[in-house]
Amino acid sequence: MLLTATASALLMLMQQAPAEGTDWDAEFGVEAKQRDPVTGEFPVDPYPQSNANAGAAPYDGAGLAAAFGGREGIARIAARTVDLSEADPRIAPIFASHDMVRLKRTLGEQFCYLLGAGCDYTGRDMKTAHAQMGVSRADMNALVENLQAAMREARVPFAAQNRLLAKLAPISRDVVER
Ligand code: HEM
Repeated sequence: MLLTATASALLMLMQQAPAEGTDWDAEFGVEAKQRDPVTGEFPVDPYPQSNANAGAAPYDGAGLAAAFGGREGIARIAARTVDLSEADPRIAPIFASHDMVRLKRTLGEQFCYLLGAGCDYTGRDMKTAHAQMGVSRADMNALVENLQAAMREARVPFAAQNRLLAKLAPISRDVVER
């Protein structure tokens, strides 16, 4: 009798077992994120937007931005810094599984804003953006080396390079966690 009950319970379980090809995300209520068809970016949770999120005040005047090749030059340097970092074995694992399309845009905006090239920064604040990432001082140095390489490739004069780095140094306090 007991055996029959167990057998029929097992049978019921087997009947309820999902068929092959089951959508496990749907089964567990995981929502698959879709890239925006226009921007190519994944959606992020809402947050207050402000230039204050850039973490520092911008430089005045157009001369510095010109040394970086204007807005286009700045965007290229930010994107190149991201590409180099994504391919850099020292820090690549930190970038894996994050949205590099969005990072290229927001980092470009931040550099553009800080260099006084007239952009608004629409990304998250630096503490929120890097929370729980476990970025170390050595990771920070690796990223700065990649930025320096990108600026060198773009032939940004040394003095102008140092002015951007000077803005990033205090910001790094909100990024480095160990
Ligand atoms: C002063 C130095 C740094 C600045 C100015 C900076 C700037 C930024 C900006 C503007 C964002 C985008 C925020 C947003 O999209 O809302 C971001 C995100 C990110 N940063 Fe940094 N960053 C710095 C250092 C680093 C370092 C050292 C690493 C790792 C080695 C790193 C890894 C990342 C990653 C993986 C994201 C994507 C976060 C996400 O998608 O949620 N950052 N950073």
